[in-house]
Amino acid sequence: MPGLLDASVSLCFRETMIAPFEYRIPCCWPSLPAEESVRPYFEEIDSKRWYSNFGPLCLRLQGQLAGHFSLDPGQVSLVANGTLGLTLALMARKKHAKGLCLMPSWTFVATAHAALLAGLTPFFVDVDPVSWALTPRIAEAALSKIDRPIAAIMPVCPFGSPVCLDEWADFERETGLPVIVDAAAAFDGIRPGSVPALISLHATKIFGVGEGGLLLCSDADMIRDVTRRSNFGFYDSREVEVPSLNAKFSEYHAAVGLAAMAQWPSTRKLIQSACDEYLKELSRVPGVSFLPGFGSDWISATCAVAIEGDRLEKIVRRLDEQGIESRRWWREGCHKEKAFSDCPRTDLATTESLAKKVLSLPMFPGIGQDEIKLVCRTLTEEMLPSQAV
Ligand SMILES: Cc1ncc(COP(=O)(O)O)c(C=O)c1O
Repeated sequence: MPGLLDASVSLCFRETMIAPFEYRIPCCWPSLPAEESVRPYFEEIDSKRWYSNFGPLCLRLQGQLAGHFSLDPGQVSLVANGTLGLTLALMARKKHAKGLCLMPSWTFVATAHAALLAGLTPFFVDVDPVSWALTPRIAEAALSKIDRPIAAIMPVCPFGSPVCLDEWADFERETGLPVIVDAAAAFDGIRPGSVPALISLHATKIFGVGEGGLLLCSDADMIRDVTRRSNFGFYDSREVEVPSLNAKFSEYHAAVGLAAMAQWPSTRKLIQSACDEYLKELSRVPGVSFLPGFGSDWISATCAVAIEGDRLEKIVRRLDEQGIESRRWWREGCHKEKAFSDCPRTDLATTESLAKKVLSLPMFPGIGQDEIKLVCRTLTEEMLPSQAV
C-alpha cells in the first residue's frame, strides 16, 4: 500500500457514504481482499449457480469461523449484517413480546435500532468508567429501579474491547433475563460462551466482508432458531412458526469471507503493529488513555482514546489542520439522538463524560508508522505544549 503521507490526498471512506471527503490520513480506510484472491470463489459460484440460501461457500466459511472460535459449525450463524443479527437474536430470546431492552447509551445507534426492530423499547443505562461497558453490577442496580417488563439485556463491547460472557451467563442465571452481547467490533477479543455474541463483518471491522454478521453461541438450538429466523422462518420445512426476516448471508459475501480468512494472519499482524505503535507513542502522555488490554489482550480496527481536560474539540481541530481525520463514532450517546429521545433511561453521567473525551484516531490495515507518529505528535503537542517538538 502506498504511504498515505506521500499522496497529496487520499479518498476517505465516509460512514454515511453521502459524499467522499478528503484527508491526508483518514480515520478509517477499509481494505478487503483484492479481486484476484476472491476470483476463484466467484468462479465457483458461477459454476455451481448457487448465490444465496446457505450455499456451499457460506457453509464452508461457517465451518472455518467455527474452527477459529473453537466451536462446532452448529454454534455459528452467518447473517446479512450485524444489526439484523442483533434483531434476530432478540426476536429469538426476548422474554416478553414487548418490553424494555436494557442497553448502554454508549454504543453505536445500531444497538438501539435492533431493539426497536425486535419490538422492544431501548432503556438506556450508564457504563463503567474504566471499561466503558455496561456491567452486570450496573444492570442489576438499574433492574431494582425499573417496574416495567424487561425483555432482554444487551451489553456492548466498546470499540472491540471484549466483555466477559461468563459473567453475563451468571447474570442470566441469577435474574432469569436473557442477555445478547453486541460484540460488533470484537472479532479479535471475544471468547464465545452460552450467552450469544454478535460480531459485525462490515467493511470497517477488523474482519470485514462488506456487509455481514456472525452470531456465536454454545447453545446450538439458539443458533438454529436465529438461522431459521434469518430465512423467513423456514428451516427443514416451509412451515413458518415464528416471526422472521430475510437476513441471509449471500455466497458473494462468503467468497470475500473465505479470502479474508486466508489473509487473517497478515491482516491481524498489520493491525497489531499499528496498535503497538500507538501504545509506544501515547502510553506515557499524561491525560491520554486506552481501553484496558488494547493492543495486548485484543486488537480492533478502531483506536479509541480518552483525552482528559476538555481538550477534545481543540485536538480535533489541530488534527484536522494537519489533514488527519478523527472521529467521535458514538457522538453524545444514543439517548441524545432524536430517534431515541423518547426512550427511558437512568442517569448517564459516565456516558456524558465519555462523550466529551473519547476520540477515535486513524486506524486501518497498512497505516504507516510515519502516519501514526504524525497523529501522535499532533496530539502530544496539544497535551504537553511545553514539550512540543
Ligand atoms: C456497537 C455496534 N453495534 C452494531 C453495529 C452494526 O453492525 P452492522 O454495520 O454490521 O449492521 C455496529 C457497526 O458498526 C457497531 O459498532
